[in-house]
Amino acid sequence: MIGSGVAGLMSALELPASARVLLLSRDTATPAASRWAQGGLAAAINRDDSPELHRRDTLAAGAGLCDPEAVECLVRQAPAAVDTLLQLGLGLDRHGEQLSTTLEAAHSRRRVLHVRDQTGLALVELLERCIEQRSNVQWLRGTVALQLWREGNRCCGVQVRCHERLGWLRAGAVVLATGGCGHLFSNTTNPSGAHGDGVAMAWEAGAMLRDMEFVQFHPTALMQPGAPHFLLSEALRGEGARLVHADGKPLFASGSELLPRDQLSRCMVREMRRQQQAQLWLDLRPIGQTKLERQFPMILGRCRDLQLEPLQQPLPVAPAAHYWMGGVATDLQACTSLQGLYAVGEVASSGVHGANRLASNSLSECLVMARQLAAADLPAPGPAGRLEPEQPLAWEPSEALQQRCSRSIHALRQLSWQAAGVERNGHELRLAQQQWRQLGSELNLPGALAPLEQQAPGSVLVLNQQQQRQLGWLWECRQRLINTGLLLEAAAFRAESRGGHYRNDVPTPLPYWQRHTIQQRGEAIRSSSGPGSH
Ligand code: SIN
Repeated sequence: MIGSGVAGLMSALELPASARVLLLSRDTATPAASRWAQGGLAAAINRDDSPELHRRDTLAAGAGLCDPEAVECLVRQAPAAVDTLLQLGLGLDRHGEQLSTTLEAAHSRRRVLHVRDQTGLALVELLERCIEQRSNVQWLRGTVALQLWREGNRCCGVQVRCHERLGWLRAGAVVLATGGCGHLFSNTTNPSGAHGDGVAMAWEAGAMLRDMEFVQFHPTALMQPGAPHFLLSEALRGEGARLVHADGKPLFASGSELLPRDQLSRCMVREMRRQQQAQLWLDLRPIGQTKLERQFPMILGRCRDLQLEPLQQPLPVAPAAHYWMGGVATDLQACTSLQGLYAVGEVASSGVHGANRLASNSLSECLVMARQLAAADLPAPGPAGRLEPEQPLAWEPSEALQQRCSRSIHALRQLSWQAAGVERNGHELRLAQQQWRQLGSELNLPGALAPLEQQAPGSVLVLNQQQQRQLGWLWECRQRLINTGLLLEAAAFRAESRGGHYRNDVPTPLPYWQRHTIQQRGEAIRSSSGPGSH
């Protein structure tokens, strides 16, 4: 299991006690995005709601590209997943006896359950405690997965760096729970680790990727100079916060605050362009002090840490990359196109979100798909490889290359934001592809990384501190390069607008394009109709 966000932890927990699970996670400096999830998890639990209404809202948001079976699975099983969490002890907020629900964009009912404004954190901490009790789960922290081990059409393990050692781990099944790619963009609500390592590994191993062009931009990220683009949850607008101009006048007629995220983000970007401003403003005061302090203490605290006082002034906001709908194509058991390789959570394209995700469906998806994975018939591990004695690694990449990588990461993030941000355009995407090719050939990473890539299974290499640091930079740069290239290619290929993908040169959806985009190493990009496409 690679990744220790909600998808990885819940999958490890749901697997039968007979399964021997090795849970790999990076160090604490790169937290899983799940920890930052604010809004909550969507489930139709109220009397005025039903899985049918939840299904309709999810399909409408997905703009014709959801897999109806996957959506059905999500909306039917989400209430049971909530029961499981309550049994495990999750302290979901309540009004008296009733679970409290809030409203987010494109939901026809209040169905977002929450733990104040830190639902993700509360969930991760609970699941971590549960995992500690499980004797069949061994947790290897400080471990970075580098590439998948493929034999024939089968994934049989993974190459990892665990502190100073580099080696291969054999496994009957490898589960990617590595999260999304929001940090490929310069403006994002995601942590720095969200650069799509799982997607890049799956692509390199030849697994099928689907719908990589579909990125969701969240309308309200904080835009305070020098501070990260901190998410200001949509639940704030669900509870009455208003978007306003610098002079405090409302931006929209009442009700538009909860337009679908893609529409609202575009309206905001156009308004910002018209005013030649880098931000608009979100006024939290209509929510009222009592509710703000009760339901959104973390947001208030972080604003105050930045010397912003939301009870006295509107907050500077702008759209930022938030969630990746595309990813490694999976079926309803989380199987990818490569035997032995599974994917759960944001790294996967399970068919639940289509071209645009309904807010707060992602935590619910992690919980439901973890159970689906656990019900799959996972292969047993093959024979353990013989480990060769440890060898020091003979590899000296230059400091200059490391610095070039760091500059390239910055350039790639700007490129993604400018060419594949909220509004895209075929011409600019093609220019960006040229720049991307140029960056890649200047770096020549394949040459620099060859000694690591070609490490023989069974051997263990020992890295000194400088090698560990340089390997980190180079590998991350390579994965970002792969993913940015895939994103630009898919966005240039889909010559229409749909869901999170908006092209101002083709601003409407086209009937032909009610199909998925498929990318697989060694093959030309193509489109495919039908939910299977896997
Ligand atoms: C939010 O709290 O606005 C984000 C929730 C989500 O993206 O599902």
